[in-house]
Amino acid sequence: MRYITVALTKGRLARQTLDLFERIGIRAEGADDSRTRKLIFSNEELGIRFFMAKGPDVPTYVAYGAADLGIVGRDTILEEGRKIYEVLDLGYGRCRMCICGPESAREALNSGDQIRVATKYPNIAKDYFLNRRHQTVEIIKLNGSIELAPIVGLSEVICDIVETGSTLRENGLAVLEEVCPISARVVVNQVSMKMESERINDLITRLKEALNES
Ligand code: PRP
Repeated sequence: MRYITVALTKGRLARQTLDLFERIGIRAEGADDSRTRKLIFSNEELGIRFFMAKGPDVPTYVAYGAADLGIVGRDTILEEGRKIYEVLDLGYGRCRMCICGPESAREALNSGDQIRVATKYPNIAKDYFLNRRHQTVEIIKLNGSIELAPIVGLSEVICDIVETGSTLRENGLAVLEEVCPISARVVVNQVSMKMESERINDLITRLKEALNES
């Protein structure tokens, strides 16, 4: 039997997803060992294996068919823009993509001036300002600690993820606008969806049932 390969986003999302798979009777040998450096775990009996990847790489593995399925945040799906099917909202990993900054930046944001927007998500930010706000902005790509940018004067605002809001609060920033809600999604390779439709649809149905029970 051919393996069904599932790409997981390393970290909390992977742990929550492995728990969910366990609830539908799919356990991957060794995956629950928090000290392990292993990247791939399989369940030989069921012909399913899981591997751990960085979030932005999950849509890449799925698009190329190196993974049949992937579990990844909607932020990453939107940012990467790969040709993959999004088939299920898992409901966890909930947060919001927002435009944030000091309250004083609201005026610049609404003035139509060419402001600077720092972000780890240049495509999402570009799309939001161009297609929804019809505003030209300068996008500055950063790789983390995005909240620093307006504080030290790199940009007027940021486009970033807000979960509890504590990073913003502790740094004197606020949500100025909401771009979209985010949560973890199941994505599927387009060829796998045809070739392995029975096994994949069965998996999706069981995951859905487990989510409805909780
Ligand atoms: C994310 C995001 C915010 C923070 C939001 O950063 O970029 O900085 O979490 O969470 P909160 O609303 O609960 O405070 P992450 O911790 O992933 O690290 P990063 O700065 O390296 O992107």
